[in-house]
Amino acid sequence: MLKYTPQEKEITLEHITSAVTMYYSKFSKYDAPFDEAINTSKPVSTVAKAGFNLFMSKAQCATCHFVPQFNGVKPPFVNSEFEVIGVPDAKNLHRLSSDLGRFEINAATETRNAFRTGSLRNAAYTKPYMHNGAFTTLKEVIDFYDTGGGAGRGLVVPNQTLSSDSLHLSDIEKNNLIAFMMSLNENITFENFPEKLPLSKNKNWNNRKVAGEY
Ligand code: HEC
Repeated sequence: MLKYTPQEKEITLEHITSAVTMYYSKFSKYDAPFDEAINTSKPVSTVAKAGFNLFMSKAQCATCHFVPQFNGVKPPFVNSEFEVIGVPDAKNLHRLSSDLGRFEINAATETRNAFRTGSLRNAAYTKPYMHNGAFTTLKEVIDFYDTGGGAGRGLVVPNQTLSSDSLHLSDIEKNNLIAFMMSLNENITFENFPEKLPLSKNKNWNNRKVAGEY
């Protein structure tokens, strides 16, 4: 643990990211039903199996969410890919999210509205979805992909890296995909949220709600 959080007085971005990473790494033991099915001969449900096959083929999810983490990190596992899928504004689904994403860090045509591909492990526990929480259910997320992301829904996303064509998924196929994502749920012990947050010199920050929705 010390290796990742050096004992220096100054708080840097590296400290914050390593602390958050260490905290999150506690959650995944890679023992979801999907892992058991892959690593042992324990069968997974027929619907989850059908969903995994769709995930890897017709629904094209695995072109961005790589097995086995189901995020955008690929060997040598140091960086994530950023993709442009045209996520709408959380309040007005007819407008593109105003968050420029990776563009804020590295301004270039291809980074505009690009976001890190998040992991789908335990996604059933992590609503709302996308960088701005635009979608509340996995069904809404799948419907979004099925209609070709933001561009497929008529938003102007000239650099979208997701195909704007419909995936032509049936309701059964959508349910299978959801069943597959549920098979990535691990038996996690949830911690209680803190009763209060540390006070800040910035008075506005002291109005933030504990475990509130932002
Ligand atoms: C072109 C790349 C790409 C493809 C293809 C893709 N995704 Fe994603 N996915 C992303 C990116 C990027 C994000 C994060 C977007 C954001 O934060 O705004 C994401 C986020 C998600 C999330 C939300 C995760 C969270 O915790 O917020 C889910 C669920 C998801 N994708 C499921 C799928 C499924 C199911 C498919 C196939 C139907 C799919 N994705 C295909 C790139 C892709």
